[in-house]
Amino acid sequence: MSLGDEQHPLRVAIVGAGPSGFYSSEALIRSELHVEIDLIERLAAPYGLVRSGVAPDHPKLKQAINVYDKIASENAELNYIGNVTVGKDITVDELRDAYHAVILTCGAETDRRLGIPGEDLLGSYTATEFVAWYNGHPDYRDRSFDLSHETAVIIGQGNVAADVSRILSKTVDELKTTDISQHALDLLAESKIKNVYVIGRRGPAQAKFTSKELKEFGELADCDPMVDPAELILNEASQSELAEKSNAGSKKIYDLFVGYSERAPSGKSRKCYFQFLRSPVELLGSGRVEKVILEHNQLSGDAFKQSARGTGEKYELETGILFRSIGYRGVAMPGVPFHESWGVFPNESGRITDNESVVPQLYTAGWIKRGPSGIIGTNRACAKETISSLIEDVNKLDSGNKQGRQKTYSILDSRKVKYINFQQWKTIDQVEVERGEAKGKPREKITSIDEMLAVLS
Ligand SMILES: Cc1cc2nc3c(=O)[nH]c(=O)nc-3n(C[C@H](O)[C@H](O)[C@H](O)COP(=O)(O)OP(=O)(O)OC[C@H]3O[C@@H](n4cnc5c(N)ncnc54)[C@H](O)[C@@H]3O)c2cc1C
Ligand SMILES: NC(=O)c1ccc[n+]([C@@H]2O[C@H](COP(=O)([O-])OP(=O)(O)OC[C@H]3O[C@@H](n4cnc5c(N)ncnc54)[C@H](OP(=O)(O)O)[C@@H]3O)[C@@H](O)[C@H]2O)c1
Repeated sequence: MSLGDEQHPLRVAIVGAGPSGFYSSEALIRSELHVEIDLIERLAAPYGLVRSGVAPDHPKLKQAINVYDKIASENAELNYIGNVTVGKDITVDELRDAYHAVILTCGAETDRRLGIPGEDLLGSYTATEFVAWYNGHPDYRDRSFDLSHETAVIIGQGNVAADVSRILSKTVDELKTTDISQHALDLLAESKIKNVYVIGRRGPAQAKFTSKELKEFGELADCDPMVDPAELILNEASQSELAEKSNAGSKKIYDLFVGYSERAPSGKSRKCYFQFLRSPVELLGSGRVEKVILEHNQLSGDAFKQSARGTGEKYELETGILFRSIGYRGVAMPGVPFHESWGVFPNESGRITDNESVVPQLYTAGWIKRGPSGIIGTNRACAKETISSLIEDVNKLDSGNKQGRQKTYSILDSRKVKYINFQQWKTIDQVEVERGEAKGKPREKITSIDEMLAVLS
């Protein structure tokens, strides 16, 4: 009898029910091995950033949830344990004791820092918290954002910055039939923001938006996209970057900027300014942000390796609210090696390593394995790689009898943790959908875990 036989299933705990948790489960289920998987999630609701990151006005992108529901409901090998934080309610060492393998797919839950004076002034927020707030993440539901100023500044030119800028630039009518949380809709309805500055440290050829996302700024009901044509003059290296066939995405972005720079403003009441080659060097204000000091940059280096350097030329921009959207960052977990500067679990093809030696039983996939980049689908190939490593290792794992979920439940029960299963989640899901129907929304999210548990009782 060997590990992975019908009589001796491979018992695996997967930590984090975002895309990489579901894709890891799927790859294991599709393997030749007999498996028993417990998918452990700290929130009651699964789906990770597909629920709490993807913008409410992008419902098509949330269709990945239908795939995850299918994986969870059609495979008896997979068992969901929601509302359990690994590292707090149960430790990684306890999971290693209870399962043959543990796969950490817990995403990147915090944010990178700019490291400039004034960064923590009131009015300076991270995109992470704003996004989680408008998406009804229970940890962020009580945040408040002061939208009483006319000018908002977003630092960063990736797709998260596009989401934040677009949500600030849309009218309530454009948002009210989405699954945006009611608390966010109410506050956005009172917003006085008229000017949104989206600031990139490098040039228009290096912006990390995708064209579909950037194109939406030309189609907003009450906001004009603004680009100064003088900012679109490219150095030689940037010209050769855009001439490269494999870089067609950046060329499309650049062409959209050109289109915006040629458009006369149509008199809409809001304006979204895309500006390049500048970095914030300080936030100033007495008690809260009143202005940001920006420094102009120039690019240096070869094509595709250009970095931004300050020219020394600085100016002030008055603003009452600033969002840092410069990337997410993974969080360490007790008992697991962590690469501090990269914010990931060090790994070789998904096998977690400590000083370059593989740590038996521990695997990782998704943003906490690779760092915070890539779209939903990227995590599928990433999870497949990790599961291939696990399958390759199966004969090297401790094949002793592991108790799996029986042990997990007994630990959680002894600590009085109120965990939920997938059917219970679907009950909460149904209530959310019903509450949304009354408002013409796909759902009204329940934003407190206590309230979710109350629905079940
Ligand atoms: C704001 C934003 C918008 C995005 N929009 C899109 C988009 O429109 N289209 C697209 O294709 N991609 C989008 N992405 C990218 C996509 O969301 C990510 O590629 C993907 O979610 C990463 O998957 P993951 O499973 O690694 O992490 P996550 O999705 O973050 O999932 C990790 C899960 O682990 C759980 N967890 C964390 N710690 C613990 C713990 N200690 N114990 C138990 N559970 C834990 C978390 O609660 C979470 O559910 C967006 C990303 C962001 C940040
Ligand atoms: N609709 C969608 O498909 C969607 C929506 C949201 C997110 N996502 C995906 O999720 C991933 C994460 O997105 P993201 O926007 O968080 O990250 P990102 O794409 O890596 O963009 C980060 C931005 O921050 C800038 N930046 C980093 N450090 C900085 C600093 N110190 N000062 C100033 N600017 C700085 C980067 O500039 P440099 O280029 O100079 O480093 C870049 O413009 C991406 O893969 C994205 O495509 C997809």
